Parts: sequence; C-alpha cells; structure tokens
Amino acid sequence: MIELSRKQDGSNDTETFARDVAEGLSQYPKTLPSRYFYDAAGSRLFQDIMALPEYYLTRCEFKVLTENRQEIVRHFANDSFFHLIDLGAGDALKTKILLRELDRQQSAFDYVPVDISGDAMRQLSGSLQQEMPAVSVQAVVGEYFPALEWMHENKPERKVVLFLGSNIGNFKQAESIEFLKTVCSYLNSGDKLLMGLDLRKEPGTILSAYNDAAGVTAAFNLNLLRRINSELGGEFDIAQFQHYPIYNPQEGVMRSFLVSKKEQEVYIRDTGRTFHFDAWESIHTENSHKYSMQQVEELSSACGFRIETVFQDEACRFADVLFTVT
Ligand SMILES: C[S@@+](CC[C@H](N)C(=O)[O-])C[C@H]1O[C@@H](n2cnc3c(N)ncnc32)[C@H](O)[C@@H]1O
Repeated sequence: MIELSRKQDGSNDTETFARDVAEGLSQYPKTLPSRYFYDAAGSRLFQDIMALPEYYLTRCEFKVLTENRQEIVRHFANDSFFHLIDLGAGDALKTKILLRELDRQQSAFDYVPVDISGDAMRQLSGSLQQEMPAVSVQAVVGEYFPALEWMHENKPERKVVLFLGSNIGNFKQAESIEFLKTVCSYLNSGDKLLMGLDLRKEPGTILSAYNDAAGVTAAFNLNLLRRINSELGGEFDIAQFQHYPIYNPQEGVMRSFLVSKKEQEVYIRDTGRTFHFDAWESIHTENSHKYSMQQVEELSSACGFRIETVFQDEACRFADVLFTVT
C-alpha cells in the first residue's frame, strides 16, 4: 500500500483539516468540506447508508454493473495490459463485480484503488487478498490528484479509471468540469473512464435517500462534528445540531446542512478559535448533483471525453457511462 498523505507545503493532515475547518466556519454562510466525512466511523456509516431501503443509488448501480459486467469488461480489456484505477474506491463493493469478471476471464490488469481513507484501503486490500488472490492490487492512500500524479510516474501502461457511486455529483458544476479535465490530462488517447451518475427523477425519491427513517444519514452528517471534536479538540455539543437535507428540482441538486438548534459558541482547540452560531444558522456540508443525459453529454464534450456506451437500469434512475479519451 502506498501512502501519499503528506502535503506538498509540509503541513500534515491534521493541520490541513484544522485550516479547512477554520476557513469554512469563518465564511457566511458556513461550510465544511464533504471529503472529511470519511474517517473510520464515517466510512462505516456510509456502508450502512448503502444498505438502507431509501438509498436506491447503490442498488441501482449494483444492478447496472451486474447485468452488464461482461460487456463492460469487454470494453476494458483489449488484449493489452491495463491499470484499473478506482478513484474513491471505499469498500469497492460494486467494483468487485467487475474485478470478479476480469479475474474469471484472466484479463491482464492490475487494480489500483485510491482513497483518502487509510482504513478503507487497508480493509479492501485484505478482503481482496482473501477473495481474489490472483488479482494484483496496489492501494494508494491519498487525494485524487496526487494519486493520479503518482500513477502518471509509476503506472505507465494503458489506464481505465473508475469513478463510481455518483461521486462526481459532490462537485459544483464548474468544479466537476475542472476535475474531469484534470483526470483527462493524466490519461492518453484511448484510455477510458467509467463514471456512475445519479439521474434526475421524482424529487421525493431523491430526498428520502438523504433523509432515511432510521436516521443513519443524519448520524453520517453529524459525524463530521464528532470528528472535529476528536481530531481537532472541538467542543461541539452534537445534540445541539440537526441534519437538514433539501432537494432543488430546478437545479437538480441535493444539499445537506447541519443546523444549530440554538445560539452558541464552539471552541476548536487546533484552530485556536471560537466560532459563533446564531440560532438556526446552518453549515452546508454536501452537494449531490443529479444529471439529465443532456448534461452528461455536455460534461463529456467539455472535458476531452467521448461517450462510448451508456449502461442504465430499466427505470433510468442511474447510469454508468463509459467515456473514451479523444
Ligand atoms: C461515496 S463513497 C463511494 C465509494 C465507492 N466508490 C462506491 O461507489 O460505493 C466516496 C469515497 O471517496 C473517498 N474520497 C472522498 N473524497 C476524496 C478525495 N478527495 N480523494 C480521494 N478519495 C476521496 C471517500 O473516502 C469514500 O471512500
């Protein structure tokens, strides 16, 4: 396993976390970056979310990948060795559908999962060694771009990139174009990207997926404050905040907030500062964009990709789109 977590400016992960938290909580309106959701507890809670009855995304993508695995793998493997790079791999529950098929067909490839969560990468490496010992795995712990930079230097062969789970939806529109352009800049003509995208649908269905009856998504969102308490010496009283998600069907954006139930001051030791919250003031913690197929086409042509094939479930709730670098 490769760990790329040291920052180029010499700061360590905790200092960067403290700086990002101080910056986000000093803004008006307040924000916190969603990438900090995934400590060990956050990764476990996200696994629970994926099993929820309301969270259709994982089930739909699981079905799309299962039903189309042979065709997808046929597009990946063209008789030459390739690196299968899984950005934000997590527990790779759905990637394993493709890995099993590649393993079954004895394709020539290695698997390079990338994630900022070291815990997730340790668990995944262990589980793959048990389940698919013939598959060569080299997990990378780090942010997407340093990992792509490392691969550019160390993994010279043909590349197939996975970006599953509608992770792209967490970026704002301009950021997603920048992100995909940067991914494309690390690839060569003919390399591929398989990206999961949650499609626009009945708004109530989308809202329920982020506001489940059992309160697991609420616990996931509030875990961000717990993480600030345990890693940065924060003094958040978690019971004084509530999870609040809203879906805007015109923009196609699901947004999650943490709302302060009262006026309060919160000291965070590692920022050296106290932050003031008015009663019912919110912290914006996550965006999840939902796409029309027209937007997917616009995204691909803006970023140097061509759509090769679209795989969808029969109710058109979720798409896994295969792009080729032009
Ligand atoms: C929503 S989960 C998706 C997991 C899996 N790909 C799936 O489809 O089920 C997002 C994963 O991306 C990782 N992640 C989030 N931001 C990241 C970043 N900037 N660089 C690397 N990994 C990141 C998280 O740790 C988490 O495991």
